[in-house]
Amino acid sequence: MNLAVIGTGYVGLVTGVCFSDIGHRVTCVDKDAAKVEKLRAGQSPIYEPGLEELIRKNMNEGRLHVTTDLESAVEEAEIVVLAVGTPQSVNGEANLQYIEQAAREVATAMNGYKIIVVKSTVPVGTNERIAARIGGLTEHPFDVVSVPEFLREGSAIKDTFHPDRIVIGAASREAAEKIKELHQPLTTKMMLTDLRSAEMIKYASNAFLATKISFINEIANLCELVGADVAQVAQGMGYDRRIGDSFLNAGVGYGGSCFPKDTQALIQIAGNVNYDFKLLRSVVEVNKNQRFNVFNQLVRLLNGLHHKTVGVWGLSFKPNTDDVRDAPSLEIVGMLLASGAKVKIYDPVAMERFCEMLNDPSVICCSSASEAASNSDAVCLLTEWDEFRHLDLKHIASLMRQPILVDGRNVYTAEDLNGAGLIYRSVGRPMLSSPVQEEENVSALQA
Ligand code: UDX
Repeated sequence: MNLAVIGTGYVGLVTGVCFSDIGHRVTCVDKDAAKVEKLRAGQSPIYEPGLEELIRKNMNEGRLHVTTDLESAVEEAEIVVLAVGTPQSVNGEANLQYIEQAAREVATAMNGYKIIVVKSTVPVGTNERIAARIGGLTEHPFDVVSVPEFLREGSAIKDTFHPDRIVIGAASREAAEKIKELHQPLTTKMMLTDLRSAEMIKYASNAFLATKISFINEIANLCELVGADVAQVAQGMGYDRRIGDSFLNAGVGYGGSCFPKDTQALIQIAGNVNYDFKLLRSVVEVNKNQRFNVFNQLVRLLNGLHHKTVGVWGLSFKPNTDDVRDAPSLEIVGMLLASGAKVKIYDPVAMERFCEMLNDPSVICCSSASEAASNSDAVCLLTEWDEFRHLDLKHIASLMRQPILVDGRNVYTAEDLNGAGLIYRSVGRPMLSSPVQEEENVSALQA
């Protein structure tokens, strides 16, 4: 089939590239000429494992094209995919200006029947509004189909080729069947539903996953007070298939481009119909407070932060991506700097994006985890990059002014810590703090 994909952000680019890889002819459209040029040169504008290779392969094989010319791309396409951003507005609602503009441009470029697939996450009722708007601007027939996107950053290609389900929301059965056919090479459950339910499935799924994370974070906080180990608790809970073992890792809370924005948007969607979504409001609040845990641990262990040096390991909102949108690191580093600490940061790929976003020249950029730890009074780990799992902790401790490690992602086990000589704190695992070992470490420090 012949597709035009409008928007080359995460969702648009990955969708376009993957559809071309399964044999469709895809033209990706973006207004940003520099981004288009970069893509044409075979370079991915985002860090996503495997994406650049697939861009090059499908461009070379002639199935993938990139352009700023929306009109020609729409004219040639049978299916137009809208994948532009729906960022958060000041009041928490999804900002629909980009999708409305894209819909207008598509409507005016239409030259015959098209199926318009909406991939952007939009509030319930938006697809119907988009259909009405397009209908007011063109004489040509069309159908609007909602196909929400569930891919995760860092595993976007795998998630697109092996999704748990594909949800297809449409008013027209024929259009839904055509979109089912578009996805045919992917073997997974395909659910046909109405437009509003499809829109709601996306928000409800993200809100539920965010709820799981805030729930386990609250259990972690409780574990610290009652002397239980949250990792063990999550493991034991996860064996129950009704609960499942995923999204039960306690830590500094969720970040990224989806959960924070989509939970706020769903609270607003509910508010607009006078429904107070109390549970979700608490999920958001718990997540906000969770970021203070690591910070408070550092304040306590260092007896204040003024003139102290803190190393930070990991800046992206999760591993395998350079995305720092709503990353806990932004807030935590901000708080450390505001408290008078000197901050040495290190991330395998997100340094540049983080510095652009933080925009504070006083932060010290390091090129390795050990450099960030050197002469620091403490280190905190905020993203569970694989390379941090393989560090020689004894050597790290020897580089530090004080061997304090606050692990915001529960990366290390008792075995990793054994003999490392670290004063160690994690989230909801009080036993690993080992007071006897610590007393020895502290007295060694004072000697
Ligand atoms: C999420 C959804 O998973 C995906 O379906 C949707 O399309 C977009 O939003 P993404 O934001 O890429 O994907 O990452 P995800 O792996 O879901 O993690 C989100 C955040 O939750 C990260 O900050 C991560 O560190 C955090 N998280 C995740 C936890 O704190 N604990 C967990 O157990 C799982």
